Formats: sequence, C-alpha cells, structure tokens
Amino acid sequence: MRVRVRRAGRLGAEVLAPGDKSISHRALLFGALGTTPMQVRNLAPGADVRSTGACLRAMGVSVVDGETPGTVTVRGAGPGGFRSPDSVLDCGNSGTTMRLLLGLVAGARVGCTLDGDASLRARPMRRVLGPLRAMGARMKGQGGPGDERAPLRVEPVPTLQGMSHRLPIASAQVKSALVLAGLAADGETRVREPEPSRDHTERMLGAWGAPVRVEGGEVVATRLLVPLALPESLDVPGDPSSAAFWVGAGLLVPQGSVMVGGVDVNPTRTGFLRVLERMGARVELEAEAARAGDPVATVHVRGGQSLRGTEILPAEVPTLLDEIPLLAVVASQASGETRVTGARELRVKESDRLKQLVLGLRAMGADIDELDDGFVLRGPARLQAAEIEAAHDHRIAMSFAIAGLVADGVTEIEGAEWADISYPGFFRELGTATAGALEE
Ligand code: S3P
Repeated sequence: MRVRVRRAGRLGAEVLAPGDKSISHRALLFGALGTTPMQVRNLAPGADVRSTGACLRAMGVSVVDGETPGTVTVRGAGPGGFRSPDSVLDCGNSGTTMRLLLGLVAGARVGCTLDGDASLRARPMRRVLGPLRAMGARMKGQGGPGDERAPLRVEPVPTLQGMSHRLPIASAQVKSALVLAGLAADGETRVREPEPSRDHTERMLGAWGAPVRVEGGEVVATRLLVPLALPESLDVPGDPSSAAFWVGAGLLVPQGSVMVGGVDVNPTRTGFLRVLERMGARVELEAEAARAGDPVATVHVRGGQSLRGTEILPAEVPTLLDEIPLLAVVASQASGETRVTGARELRVKESDRLKQLVLGLRAMGADIDELDDGFVLRGPARLQAAEIEAAHDHRIAMSFAIAGLVADGVTEIEGAEWADISYPGFFRELGTATAGALEE
C-alpha cells in the first residue's frame, strides 16, 4: 500500500494511544503461567501481539477474543503445563514474540519450531540461544554458531540450571527471555545489563507473585513453583512509542495541537519526551490513574516551537530506542547539530533503521551523516518530498509520514501497510487530524 502525504498547515488531534505492545505481549505470555482467567483490556491492536496469542494457543493456552475490540481473556496452563505444538510457531514480524517465547519454552519440556517472516528470519537470535543453551536448553538456529537465525528448533530438556548473565548490550527482549527461563531453572538466574532497558518483565512478574526481584541493578529469578497470581483484569496503558508519532506531528506542524491520552510514562520508556524538552519543546504531562502498575499521563504538545539540536548519549538510547527514526525526523527541523551514538542495535531491528532513516532523510534533503552506531544531522532542513520505502518496518513507515507533513510536495510511503504491525489505522487517523494531508 502506498500513502501520499502533503504538507499540513494545521493539525488538531485528541487521541488515545493504542495499548502498549511490550506490556501486551507480556500480559499474554505471563498469563500463560497462571491457571486463572485474566481479562486483558486495551491489548495492543497490531499483528505482533496477535502472533504471540496464536503461538500460545498452539501450546494449549486459551486466548479468547472478547466482544469489545482489544479485549481478550487469557487462561494459562501454569508452569510446566504447555503442550508441544502440532505445527510451526509463526512469530510473524515480531522479535519480542520469538525471543520471549524462547525463554518460556526453554525449560517447559516441549519441542517446537519457531519461525517468522523474512525480516524476522534476518534478525540475530544467538544473543538468546547462546545464554539459554548455557543454562541447559537444547535449541538451535540456522547458520553458523557465530550468528544463528530463525527458523529455530527447540527440544525438550528435563530442567535448566540458573546462572549469572552479563548482557553485552542492553536488551529487554534478551533480559526477559533469560528471566522466563530462570523461572524453570534450579538455583538463581541473574541478569545484568550495561544500561537499564524497559522493566515491564520484572515489574509485572514481581507484582504477580513470581520469584523475581531486582537487586543492585540485577534482575534475579528462581524457579516458579506455583501458578502466577494473576489479577482478574488488566488495563494495558497506551504505547509511548505509538504516542510518539502524534507528539512528533504536533510539534512539527506549525499550527499543531495534540493531546494523546492514556500514555504509559514509565521512566524506562520516556526518553523521547525528555530529549524533546532538552531540544526546547514544551511537553505537558497531566497525570492519569496508574495502569498495570505503570504511571500514565495525557501528553499535550503544540506546534510552531523553535527546537535546537542535541546530543543523545549511549546510556539514554534504551529509553528511546524505538523512537530514534522519528527523533531524526524531528531533529531535521531543529537548528544545529543532533548527534546520536551507541545505537548500533537499530541495525538489527525490523530493518536496518540507521540505514533507512539516513537514506530517507537524505533523499528529502536533510544534511545527515550515517555513523556506525548512530548519525549526525545538521538542521534545520527544508525537506522536499521523496519516495520512501518502508523496508518491512512499521516505525520507518510512520516516521516518514511525519516528515511528509513538513515537506514540499507529495511524499510517497511505499509499504505503508507495515504500520499495521503496531498501529493499524494510524494513517487514517493522521489523515483526519490533518484535514486530508494524507491519501491512501
Ligand atoms: C522490546 C524491547 C526493545 C524494543 C522492542 C520491544 C520488548 O528491544 O526495541 O520494540 O518488548 O522487550 P530490545 O530487546 O533491543 O530492548
């Protein structure tokens, strides 16, 4: 699908952020470790979380859609209650599904094969397989031991051994996989990261009675002997990474006014908002009631503010990891230099995001240089319309739609349907908010 985007003079939006993708995956996966039903509301609407639900169903977990969109009831089989699926577990485009499931099945005494689409098959899996094998798991991917990729084969093992892991790169997916494996292991499993990544796994598991704690910056897990004590219902807060597109659009469109309600503002997720403030943007937060144990707020921004470039340091990267392509678009409208380093991980996301963001912004006339682990951009640029290829990547598709709102001419996003991975209906809503600057 191709979306055409024109410059927008005004933008007015009062929207609710769709359910957070990270929390939604975890609600289903951890729900599987309980035996009582948990109704999950405002589940992330995209294809990624549907992939997690389908994989769990194939292992005997009941995941039933409710009548209200976004409501599902999950009823698990408890620790050790999974059955080996009859067919391949299709993780689609979702790295979170594949990596967290690996942790869940590692010590679950099941045999299974995990696979995904072309983008997921290209993503590195050794970072999870290696440490899980060190705990005694039997699992193998395609390619050499240096870099294994999907499809991945898992064989049942009687048990796992807890151990201490030091992750070379901060990764919530890897951390979560190891913590989940630790719930089926003898002794203690410890995970230490160079910088803290999003902490939903440790918070949710801890709140639901799992033997998981945070101690001196390490997450520590021991065997889960009884089913998780799940709440009867869980309200998923809005996804800050989806809300970010509205915040970016509201700031860049001259007469923009955006209110995004229900946004998760867990500090491990709000680096984008902090960086915008450092760039001179006024970002107003109005606190709402907490959801799923996380703070929640309505975020309000207005357009026409002058922004200045900034430096994003490696330690900040995990707190705005998925927002970096959009941040580059915003920085193209700020005066002075914006420099991002320590973001090499972006090269192994749904696409090589550093390459795609530099290619796209350069095609639109921005003065940007690609670094091995980031980029340097000198703004502000008068952007010109270009043809942008989404490269199987939802966040590239949506980021460049925002760039199109401030560019001369008609920007065309090829592969716009990839937005459905995390935010179905995004282009339609943005079209309405801009009174027709978008055409599908
Ligand atoms: C996620 C963690 C992040 C992020 C991804 C979702 C998660 O990846 O990019 O979109 O839900 O755990 P890392 O594993 O690199 O932290």
